[in-house]
Amino acid sequence: MTYIPNSARYRQMEYRRCGKSGLMLPAISLGLWHNFGHIDSLDNADNILKLAFDSGITHFDLANNYGPPPGSAEENFGKIFRENFIPYRDELVISTKAGWGMWEGPYGDWGSKKYLVASLDQSLKRMGLDYVDIFYHHRPDPDTPLEETMSALDLMVRQGKALYVGISSYHPSDAQQAFQILKELGTPCLIHQPKYSMFDRWVENGLMDVLHDNGVGCIPFSPLAQGLLTNKYLHGIPEGSRVTSHRGNGAIDESAITDSTIAKLRKLNKLAENRGQNLAQMALAWILKDERVTSVLIGVSRPDQVTDSIQCLENYSFTEDELLMIDNILK
Ligand SMILES: NC(=O)c1ccc[n+]([C@@H]2O[C@H](COP(=O)([O-])OP(=O)(O)OC[C@H]3O[C@@H](n4cnc5c(N)ncnc54)[C@H](OP(=O)(O)O)[C@@H]3O)[C@@H](O)[C@H]2O)c1
Repeated sequence: MTYIPNSARYRQMEYRRCGKSGLMLPAISLGLWHNFGHIDSLDNADNILKLAFDSGITHFDLANNYGPPPGSAEENFGKIFRENFIPYRDELVISTKAGWGMWEGPYGDWGSKKYLVASLDQSLKRMGLDYVDIFYHHRPDPDTPLEETMSALDLMVRQGKALYVGISSYHPSDAQQAFQILKELGTPCLIHQPKYSMFDRWVENGLMDVLHDNGVGCIPFSPLAQGLLTNKYLHGIPEGSRVTSHRGNGAIDESAITDSTIAKLRKLNKLAENRGQNLAQMALAWILKDERVTSVLIGVSRPDQVTDSIQCLENYSFTEDELLMIDNILK
């Protein structure tokens, strides 16, 4: 059956300007790191993507190595895109990345021009796209000159294979240098993708200021700490959760569910209830309260998690007291 998107989709979402660029992103974006690989259900992936688009989520985030196996999230996205989203290509912002190990040998990892250019070509083929909207360098490379990595990003834009470029997980001083190089090359950096959640607040120590000063957008990943900041682990580890799926590739496992974490989650959950939200909604709202955040990048294993999480947009303002209580719980 032909997919007809919800005609009210743009009324349900808030869109924020990405730094000082012309691009608006939805306040909530969807990432395909987990639950979209060949080990996962294609029907479920299809339902998630359609529901997300129906809810006004116009931005889907991928990387060369998402799966498992690596590459399979892009392949599955390509299948679903071809069947449903071709007429809506111009309503979508699709991103991919390279920077982690993808293929054997010295040219399938880190930040050389050789690796990044070949990887984007592979990603475009897997997804069946002519171009991506955003291409990221996925992590800093301590050994490749930053000039080489940034000139690879600039080249992709000049070749028409990426419209914008971004960096991920760069620390403030490297990020500042990267922004300067890209500016000189004539391809300003659009966006930075850092890990950020109530449980991991490193971006507050300088990165957010550097992004703001340079007019670069910010799209935090793993805002729910991979599902910890929800009500699912309050009373043990439920079957079917990411922790029990043993997916590898950086996914959380049992070691993340400690007594002290559960104690914090229970207190945060109570606070969320007092705000009329569930814990996931409060954790996302807590990130969106900072207007320097362009979009928060969620992952989901089921369509109803999209519906649930998106309700964080109903209230993302916090009183001073609430913020203080959260800080005290997280100490
Ligand atoms: N740049 C990078 O280096 C990097 C690294 C990691 C991720 N990312 C990007 O960030 C995206 C999001 O990362 P993430 O998946 O770790 O994000 P996350 O939002 O912190 O965690 C997603 C998980 O939380 C649970 N969840 C989501 N919504 C829920 C709800 N409303 N109620 C209960 N549980 C809920 C689900 O866990 P269950 O599966 O247990 O149901 C879901 O799989 C990725 O897909 C990727 O695009 C980028």
